[in-house]
Amino acid sequence: MTAPADPWLDYWETVPEGRLLFAPESEEYVLNFLRECQPKSTDRVLDYGCGFGTIARLLAPHMGAIRVWDDAANMRRIAAGNLAGVPNAAEWDRRENGFDYVLVNSVVQYLTAAELETKIAEWAEVLGPNGRIVLSDWSEPGHSTWSDLWSLFRFSVRRGYFVRALRNTLAERGRYGATARRRPPYHPSKDEIDRFATAAGLSACYLARNLTHFRGRRTAVLSRTAHASAYRESPAPAVCAHR
Ligand SMILES: C[S@@+](CC[C@H](N)C(=O)[O-])C[C@H]1O[C@@H](n2cnc3c(N)ncnc32)[C@H](O)[C@@H]1O
Repeated sequence: MTAPADPWLDYWETVPEGRLLFAPESEEYVLNFLRECQPKSTDRVLDYGCGFGTIARLLAPHMGAIRVWDDAANMRRIAAGNLAGVPNAAEWDRRENGFDYVLVNSVVQYLTAAELETKIAEWAEVLGPNGRIVLSDWSEPGHSTWSDLWSLFRFSVRRGYFVRALRNTLAERGRYGATARRRPPYHPSKDEIDRFATAAGLSACYLARNLTHFRGRRTAVLSRTAHASAYRESPAPAVCAHR
């Protein structure tokens, strides 16, 4: 039996490089990740849902090793090109484990609740003993699209790519909207994330600020550390200081 089609994967299979996911956005994520999570330079990272591989390329010099995976073959192919020549980066072979970080940025909204629960369990399986899953750039139920547009407007003006962001976002609006009508983006509640984390033997805490330029979105850090829950909603970097 063939698996049912995933409209969002179909969408991402056809997004050309440079159309969305602009470089300043990846730079912002990497800066915030390094500041908030303070990884060690020997840490091993899996970037799951890596897109074009821009975050992995920027992060690689700060980490021991970085592996990338994306269910969209188009993204894996482009990421492989962008990571060619980066000595400590490669596509994840899906057997390697013991990661210090599994990074999942701006992917949750394209999954279903059942998929997120399954994937959190799978990511937990490949974490090292002190590893963390960093789920960023998702939004809670009731989140307003206007908040995202406002964040994009402010950030793209500040970083000097407003015209390109506007043009490309408008160009993608029809296809993105049509996909969203087929499968509305998923907005998990914190209760759901807590439940999925617990089922996988992890606990979740929440950064005071999202790791990307989308200020209204959230970042959760899932780990085996029992006292992670003590840091719920605490200001970063305390949330990530308990290794
Ligand atoms: C908004 S992009 C984010 C890409 C990258 N993480 C970044 O921040 O630049 C969403 C990515 O999630 C990937 N994706 C969607 N559904 C997925 C799934 N079920 N498993 C793995 N990746 C998925 C898409 O192919 C796409 O590359």
